[in-house]
Amino acid sequence: MHVSSSGDLLADRRYEYARAYLDAGDHAAAADLFLQALERAPGWLPALVGAADALVAAGRRDEAEPLLREALARDDDGLFGTSLKLAALGLAEVPAAPPEAYVRGLFDDYADRFETVLVDDLGYRAPWLLADLIDKVRPDAAFARGLDLGCGTGLMAEALKGRVTYFAGCDLSPEMVARADAGQRYQALAVTDAATYLSATGDSYDLVTAADVLVYVGALDALFRAVAARLPPDGLFAFTVEEADGGDLVLRDSLRYAHGEAYIRRVLAEAGLAVVELRRDRLRLDRGAPIRGLVVVARPVF
Ligand SMILES: C[S@@+](CC[C@H](N)C(=O)[O-])C[C@H]1O[C@@H](n2cnc3c(N)ncnc32)[C@H](O)[C@@H]1O
Repeated sequence: MHVSSSGDLLADRRYEYARAYLDAGDHAAAADLFLQALERAPGWLPALVGAADALVAAGRRDEAEPLLREALARDDDGLFGTSLKLAALGLAEVPAAPPEAYVRGLFDDYADRFETVLVDDLGYRAPWLLADLIDKVRPDAAFARGLDLGCGTGLMAEALKGRVTYFAGCDLSPEMVARADAGQRYQALAVTDAATYLSATGDSYDLVTAADVLVYVGALDALFRAVAARLPPDGLFAFTVEEADGGDLVLRDSLRYAHGEAYIRRVLAEAGLAVVELRRDRLRLDRGAPIRGLVVVARPVF
């Protein structure tokens, strides 16, 4: 994340060194330097959060907690994800949704290396798993109008190439959308939240997709209702979630939400949707470990 200056040159320099130590995995040295930056620039939000992250990584949660609480009071728009960090440590209620500014900032930062890191290094497969499952449900079908929620750089459109005549995409992150635009993978693009897009459009879509997006949405009831309202009777809604090991809605250390199968089925049913096909598969790797997910195709029930 691009961090604005503390106003103190020495604090800025200590912060930069601290980040380098954090990236290199020397958490104790990073924590010391972040704390030294705070001595020069008390209350400086990036250093508060950096120190807390380093202390948590070093197994010193008790020391991190007061820093995160101070950061929360200063993280007005939620850009630093402080509320999520506290919740992931069990120190606050899990919010129903992450702060929009946090998700936007995360992907604006990530956009220029998203495809290489995720696909090449982390074996990301969600769009292709979804395309396979859609193919199983409707072999060789052509969809007249598709909508890709959280389209990112456009990998879902790539995976469904030639299958969707008019494909619209929306995403919270302007930088991700700029890449999708450059790739000319969609007929229309919008920088906006998925639920907001769905409630503003009067159009219907015979295919709605959300590949690795619901992990950044949290509670799914409002979004599923908004999708259902835009699907014709034979429309399909195809999405992935990370599968929770237990429970309905879990916030992970990664600050992504995981969802249980029972929760997915219940919230779909409450929105007037039902599962047509559901598969368990590896979505990608996270810190070397496979992330197990649910790959789902649902449709309206009448
Ligand atoms: C992991 S990326 C996946 C991108 C793309 N679907 C793919 O499979 O390559 C998640 C994307 O969802 C977007 N996103 C997260 N929450 C969103 C929301 N509430 N509304 C719209 N986009 C969202 C992020 O900005 C990001 O581009």
